[in-house]
Amino acid sequence: MRDSYPLMSKMKIITVVGARPQFIKAAPVSAELRKSHEEIMIHTGQHYDDEMSDVFFRTMGIPEPDYNLGVGSGSHAWQTAKMMHGIEEILVDEQPDRVIVYGDTNSTLAGALAAVKEHFPVAHVEAGLRSFNMKMPEEVNRRLTDHVSQQLFCPTQTAVTNLKNEGITEGVHMVGDVMHDAALMFGDVESDILEQLNLEPDNFYLLTVHRPSNTDSEQNLRSIFNALDGHETVFPAHPRTSKLMAQYGLKTPESIKIIKPVSYIEMLELIKNARKILTDSGGMQKEAYFFGTPCITLRKETEWVETIQDGWNVLAGADCEKIRDAIENFEPSGERGTSYGDGEASRKIVEILSQS
Ligand code: UD1
Repeated sequence: MRDSYPLMSKMKIITVVGARPQFIKAAPVSAELRKSHEEIMIHTGQHYDDEMSDVFFRTMGIPEPDYNLGVGSGSHAWQTAKMMHGIEEILVDEQPDRVIVYGDTNSTLAGALAAVKEHFPVAHVEAGLRSFNMKMPEEVNRRLTDHVSQQLFCPTQTAVTNLKNEGITEGVHMVGDVMHDAALMFGDVESDILEQLNLEPDNFYLLTVHRPSNTDSEQNLRSIFNALDGHETVFPAHPRTSKLMAQYGLKTPESIKIIKPVSYIEMLELIKNARKILTDSGGMQKEAYFFGTPCITLRKETEWVETIQDGWNVLAGADCEKIRDAIENFEPSGERGTSYGDGEASRKIVEILSQS
């Protein structure tokens, strides 16, 4: 990566993060940004547990947030409104040249709306993703954010096309995926998670489930767990999932080992060494692809269509038979391509920001 950029002038940039995947996405961009610009980081506090938030800052060298709004959990409207209120105050006070938001969480939308209403230009990293399922809160967040952003940094060509189909062509930049940058940055950092969990490489499945479409349905969770009965599986459970399982009184089969959420570096180690991954996370579908681990996606659609087109990912929803079939029979059928860029997305983003 370069040491600095040809600058129009040094900018004051506010970054808004709040949920686990945003810490991962911001890590490589922030490192790059701080070479030439002043970055002020707002943490909304959407995620607040040590293992959902602090551990990422500690282990990935992300600078301490300058502000933490401590918003916490709540309904969508309550959480988003509370974030907007806090972000607005800071923006008015700090008068940034640009506000950067990441991905598709409530923190993304809150940052974008608060900024655009005060006439601060918004840069959206991971713009243009679509699942075409408006029942997903993330789909609402990303669509609205894209439509109020001045700079749209797309991870894939598919994302550029999605934006074009909605009439957005100005300020659109295909830069590649910052999650690929992060995977390259941290992929070789050592972790002893396999020893800790007594796991042998290529001899276990890795499960994560946190989407409301799965967690809010006892039947879907039961179906996913049943499909893994008899297959040694490690399951870092998101707090949302743990809470709902406790509410349902739902137990997993003995072959599934439930553990607390793990750090990014530990997760990469698990992903690299799992036989297959079963997940409803967006990020993990790509991380599986980056490291060449077959992925079974526990959803009916995906934004990351390239992983499917290249034959490394398969959609199984929460259908027990389909999941079982994929566990036993799904084998990747093609080469992994370069759809997610060359690991230079962060550098390109900062270069474009610096020239604007
Ligand atoms: C959020 C994002 C989702 C992203 C995910 C990554 C939205 C709408 N969704 O979902 O896109 O994939 O983060 O993890 O923004 N909780 C805790 N401790 C925490 C955080 C959450 O116990 O540190 C529990 C609370 O019970 C909370 C629930 O998890 O109600 C859900 O948290 P929330 O931030 O609302 O959404 P996520 O499911 O984490």
